[in-house]
This record gives sequence, structure tokens and C-alpha cells, in this order.
Amino acid sequence: MKEKLENIKTLALKELETVYSLKDLEEIDIKFLGRKGELNEIKKNLKDLPNEQKPIIGGLANQIADQIQSIIKEKHEILYEKAINEKLEAEKIDITLPGNFIPQGKVHPLTATVNEIVDIFQGLGFSLVEKQNSPEVETEHYNFDMLNFPPDHPAKDMQDTFYTQIAPNIVLRSQTSNSQIHEMEGKNPPMRVISPGRVYRAETVSSRKNNLFHQIEGMVIDKDITFGDLKGVLNEFIRIYFGQTRPTRFRTSYFPFTEPSAEIDVQCIICQGKGCRTCSNSGWLEILGAGMIDPNVLKNVGIDTDIYTGFAFGMGVERLTMLKYAINDIRLFFNNDVRFLNQF
Ligand code: PHE
Repeated sequence: MKEKLENIKTLALKELETVYSLKDLEEIDIKFLGRKGELNEIKKNLKDLPNEQKPIIGGLANQIADQIQSIIKEKHEILYEKAINEKLEAEKIDITLPGNFIPQGKVHPLTATVNEIVDIFQGLGFSLVEKQNSPEVETEHYNFDMLNFPPDHPAKDMQDTFYTQIAPNIVLRSQTSNSQIHEMEGKNPPMRVISPGRVYRAETVSSRKNNLFHQIEGMVIDKDITFGDLKGVLNEFIRIYFGQTRPTRFRTSYFPFTEPSAEIDVQCIICQGKGCRTCSNSGWLEILGAGMIDPNVLKNVGIDTDIYTGFAFGMGVERLTMLKYAINDIRLFFNNDVRFLNQF
């Protein structure tokens, strides 16, 4: 029995000497020390031995098991470290290799301006009109008539409008003011909304004009709304958009749907009012049309003009973007030339 144990030990040590992988090591472990291993087999049969032999053989078996165990542990440490090092080596990356270039998308400068302006007005308590209240394909009724453009009045010629072939009275809207009417028809005052969107005009394209451009419309209707509210809101908008308080000028003007009407200028941001090419030497830049909503418009949608008054305003997104970033040709916005777009 003793000899058998010695043989097991010799064999185990021999196998352990030439083990080179964790997997082989585990097999040796099972083979010699496992529940069905050879040593365990002997321990299980101790009961059949003569009494005086039991402790001797049992002790020897344990001693050999301990010895094998400790070698396995040692080997495990070495092989484990070796395996990790091999893995690290195999997964090593060359950080000096150039990476793959992934071009990054950007927000179009016009979209960025719209987002910024919408954000400013939301901060002032305005909300966005719903999309269905701001259609680009529109009837003359909403684009003109309800906004107090009298039929055949010369005011209707103020804008050269695209008529469609869908029906004689269907146009591409020439202004976002159509959304005022949809909004008023769908809701009751008080209201305070803005409505950004595309508008279309049949113009000769130049560095300053395009057939398609963007406006942001604004409208406030409530009790006791005055021209002072209009001035306060728009001056505050200008201060935030241009980053500082700037001199503004409210000039009388005319729109069929507002009375009184104003065009609002901001002191030229290029020359600070001294006169330059951008402001055609006037020192001022026109950026907004606005006015108190004409009572005729309110009456058209059934709002009681004894109770409610309101103001409205409209601004050109391209113009505001061109001023802020000193862009000199409106067509750049629509060419989708990445050399231009990448600058924003
Ligand atoms: N709709 C006008 C335009 O396109 C701008 C405007 C909007 C003026 C609202 C007054 C009030 O020129």
C-alpha cells in the first residue's frame, strides 16, 4: 500500500513537471486529488486495513495529497500569469496607427438660428404653434383675406406669391402670418405663440433674395396688451439674440393685418452705427416687422375686440443669421456646400 502511494506521488510529480497549460493542470488535479482520484480511492479503503496500518497509510496519503496540492498551487500561479500575459500580448493595439475618420454631422446654420430664437421666446413665455396650424401650402383665404388684405387691394401685390396648379386659390404661403389665423381659430385668448417655418416668394434670386426662405412669426393676444408690451418683448429679444443691449429704432410702417405697424431696426452690428456697406451707410439694420393686431383680423376670427388686444411680429431667419455671422450671400444656405456648412 505504501509503495502504491509512493508510485502515485512519483507519477503526480512527474506529470506536474511537464504541465504547460491551466487545462492540463486541472486534469492532473482531478486525476490525483479529485473525489474519484487515486488518493481518495485509497483513503476510502482504509477501513479494510489492519488497525495499526490505518494511521500510517492515512497519514502518508494526506501528506502526499498536501504535497501535490501545494505544487499544483504553485504551478497554477505561474501558468495563470503566463496565460494573462499571452492574452494581453495578443490583444495589444498599436496606438500610433491613424484612426478611421468619421465625419461628424452638424446642425444647419438656419436650423441653429431657429432653435436659438425659439429658445429665447420660450424663455419669455411663448410656446410653439402646432405644425398643422402652420401649413406651407395654403389658401389665399388664410395667406391674405383673413389677414385683412382686401380683394384686389394693392397690398395683395406687396408679395409676389407662387400660385399652385392644385386649385386657383391655393398658394405657397408668402409669410408665416397665416399661422396667426389658424391659431386664433383653434384657440381662445390669452395666447402667446411663435411659429417658425418656410415661406415662398416669386422673386429674382440674388445674393439677398431667395424664392424660399424662413420666417419666425410671433403673436400675443390678451387683455390690456399695448404697444409698450410689443416694444418690451422685442427689445428683450434683440438684447438676448445679439448678446447685449443695442440701440433699436421703431419706424412706422404698414401691414394690412397690423395697426399701427412698425419696422424695427437695430443699430448696425458691423459699424456700430457709423455707416458701412452692410447697413447701406444708414447705421441701422431692419430686422423685424410688427404691429398691434388690426381689430379687423380679430373680428374675422370672432375674438371680442372690446376685451382683447394683441400684437404680432415677423422676422427673417436668413437675414438674422447673415447678420450674426457676417454671411454675404443668402444662396450659401441652400447650396449644401460642406465647406460653408462646416464653419458653423
Ligand atoms: N408678415 C410680414 C412680412 O412677411 C411680417 C409681419 C408679421 C409684420 C407680423 C407684422 C406682424 O413681411
